[in-house]
Parts: sequence; structure tokens; C-alpha cells
Amino acid sequence: MQRSRNVIESRRLFLRYLAASPALAYVGLSGSVAEALVGVAGGASQSTRRYAGLGDVISSPEVAIDIFDFETVARNKLPPAHWGYLATGVDNDATIQANRDGFSTFQLRPRRLIDVRQIDTSVELFGKEWPTPIVIAPTGSNKAFHTDGEVAVARAARAKEHLQILSTAASTGVEEVVAARGEPIWYQLYARHSWEVTKAVVTRAEKAGCPAVVLTVDLQGGSNRDTVKRFAKSDARTCSTCHADTRRSPMFDGLDISEPTDYSQGLTWDFVRQLRDHTSMKVLIKGIVTGEDARLAVESGVDGIIVSNHGGRAENSARSTIECLPEVVDAVQGRITVLIDSGFRRGTDFFKALALGADAVCIGRPYLWGLAAFGQAGVEAVLDILRKELEIVMKQAGTVSVSEIGPSFVASRSG
Ligand code: FNR
Repeated sequence: MQRSRNVIESRRLFLRYLAASPALAYVGLSGSVAEALVGVAGGASQSTRRYAGLGDVISSPEVAIDIFDFETVARNKLPPAHWGYLATGVDNDATIQANRDGFSTFQLRPRRLIDVRQIDTSVELFGKEWPTPIVIAPTGSNKAFHTDGEVAVARAARAKEHLQILSTAASTGVEEVVAARGEPIWYQLYARHSWEVTKAVVTRAEKAGCPAVVLTVDLQGGSNRDTVKRFAKSDARTCSTCHADTRRSPMFDGLDISEPTDYSQGLTWDFVRQLRDHTSMKVLIKGIVTGEDARLAVESGVDGIIVSNHGGRAENSARSTIECLPEVVDAVQGRITVLIDSGFRRGTDFFKALALGADAVCIGRPYLWGLAAFGQAGVEAVLDILRKELEIVMKQAGTVSVSEIGPSFVASRSG
């Protein structure tokens, strides 16, 4: 009886913490939605294996066959509330499924009898060469998945030479992550109500050496994350024990963030221009899914966009980003850099995006599965598997460099 009273009190405290948390402020959520994060997780596996369940619980990263092996381990290892935070989409999670289904709209058109002994997967982004077009997307609160959090991700990115984008909602400050990565990372920005606070965070990222800032714009209407609410309901742990000391993101240390939490609803293109004029970093906008907005992005003078629906965690558009990509690329006409994310799980997925005009592709949940399953080694293994799969499809298609992967290598079901 006493124990259950303690549990209830702890949950109450945790909910109060969440309601005041900057992580929730970012999405304009109120206390009721805060309950979402208390729960445990579930969500159907994103694997579409034909022989599901056959040897898919692995005990070390080296024996993984595909990245979904890490999803299974992560699901088993994580506390329900944390898994729920990782897995959730919005409403009935239909856009998560749409992101996967979208890839079947496009088929490969491989060419034959080409010497593919030497494959070059490198790409150039803003004058810097990367050995791979696979980029680590910004995700918040990585310590919820492994005690080493963002630092483990950075060490894996360093070992495997991937570009990493750090979230405003990270559980580690940008300086520490830059040090672990060993070279500049990009910084993702959730704008605050107060320009002064926003400016301070941007300046801090710039001082830490970040060459690019990525403004996320797809949570302006908030997001109705039912799955995380359901898992929250089933999690009876005493969350306040762990959360008591982490009331805010380290990126807001020393700043007054007592402003209203509905800050983001007022953002317009004026803010984009203000940001661009304030910083000397490259500016990208994350969350663009239409040609109209891609055109406005070009006109606003930004350097790039990320075609993204937040991995199905923003609105329930039921439209995959791979299907959004052609109209965005058409609108941009090569004038700015175009990245994409949401639902990328296989080498063929990356290949299709590159063929349709993306310059690089970000992944979110896959590296978090690796992190939750085995820490840094898990992230490294996920990156290895995805790179290997991309190399295989490049060889199968007869494309020896990323620049050769063009529209003629895909056909569209819709014609
Ligand atoms: C995210 N994403 C995200 N995006 C962002 O701009 N800032 C953030 O803080 C976060 N946080 C976050 C947490 C978690 C747990 C997830 C899964 C995602 C979205 C992320 O950058 C990316 O758009 C998606 O994760 C890509 O989709 P997939 O690869 O997860 O399907």
C-alpha cells in the first residue's frame, strides 16, 4: 500500500517535471500529453522480414544480420516509457507506416555489365567531403536510451566518419559532443519564444565550432503522440528518481527559459531570415515536405533543407517523405542542398533517395536502436550494416559513385 502510494507520488512528481520540461515545450505540449512520456513502449516492429522471429534476438552487435535485430534488443532492454518515446508516431502511427510503404512506390532499374570492383560512396556537403551519405539525425534525450547517450553516438560517428546533427533537446551539451566527435557537428535548433534565448543557444553552437544550424519547423502545431501515452500508462516505475536532476536540457544552462511554451506556434519565414542574418553558420530548415515551401526556403536565403516529417512524429500526413522528395527537388532546381529522412532502413531506401535527387540521407531510430541495444558498439554496427547494404545496391545497379545515381535508376509505380 505504502509502495503504491510512493509510486503514485513519484509519477505525479515526474508528470510535473515533464510539464515544465523544455523537451515538451519544444512541441507545444501540455501536462496531459506529458503523461505520454511516462509510459512504456511498444509499437509494432518496423521489420518486414519474411521469417520474423527466426534467430532475431542477438546477444552482440557482430552477429546482427540487419538493423531490425537492434530494434528487438532495444525494445527488450529499454524501460517501457523510454521505448515509447523512441517508437512513437502520432495518432495511430499511420505516418510511420506510410514512410515505409512509400519506398515501394519506386522500383530499381539496375544496369548490367559494369565494372563495380571499386565503389565510391563519398558525398560533398558545403565543401566538405564525407565518406558516406548516411547522416545521424538529431534526436533528443539520448541518455534515456544508454547512459553514454550522445557521447556514445559521437564516438561511433567518429569511428565510422559520419556527419552527426545534435538536437537542442540533447542530454549532453554541444561542447562535450564536439569533443567526443573530434570534429564539428551540425546543430539542430528548436527556436524559443524569446529571441534572446534562441540567439544565446545559436551563438553557443557556433562557438563550439558547428558549421551549420538546422532549424526544425514541423512541430508548430504540436504533435498528438498516442503511442507514447499508452506506454506511459503501463509504466509503474518511479521515474522521478532519475529525472529529478535533469529538469532542463544542458543547452539552456544559465538561460531564463520561463517563457510560455507555445512559443513555436508564432514562427514565420521572418524568423528564418532573422536567424540567417544573425549567424555565419550555414542554415538549413528541417521539416519541409512540399514544393511550395521548398521554393520559399530558397527565396529566404537558406543553404539547405531536410525533407522530413520527423519520422512520423509531427503531423499524421500519411504521406511518406520519399514521395515528397520529387516535388521538393523540382522546386529547388539544385540551388540549395537537399537532405531527407524518415523511415530509411535499407540500402535500397538510401539509393532511391539519392536517385531522386537527395544529397544525403539522415537516420533517426535505427541508430537509437543500436545505442539502446549495445551503446557505441551498437551504433557502429548499425552504421556498418546500412553502409554495406548501400554499397551492395550500388554495385547491383552498376553505379560506382554517388554522383552516378540518378533518376534513370528508379521507376515510379505512379508513372
Ligand atoms: C526525433 N527527431 C527529432 N528531430 C529534431 O529535429 N529534434 C529533436 O530533438 C528530435 N528528437 C527525436 C527523438 C526521437 C526519439 C526520435 C525517434 C526522433 C526526429 C529525427 O531527427 C528524424 O527526423 C527522424 O527520427 C527520422 O525518422 P526515422 O529514421 O526515425 O524513421
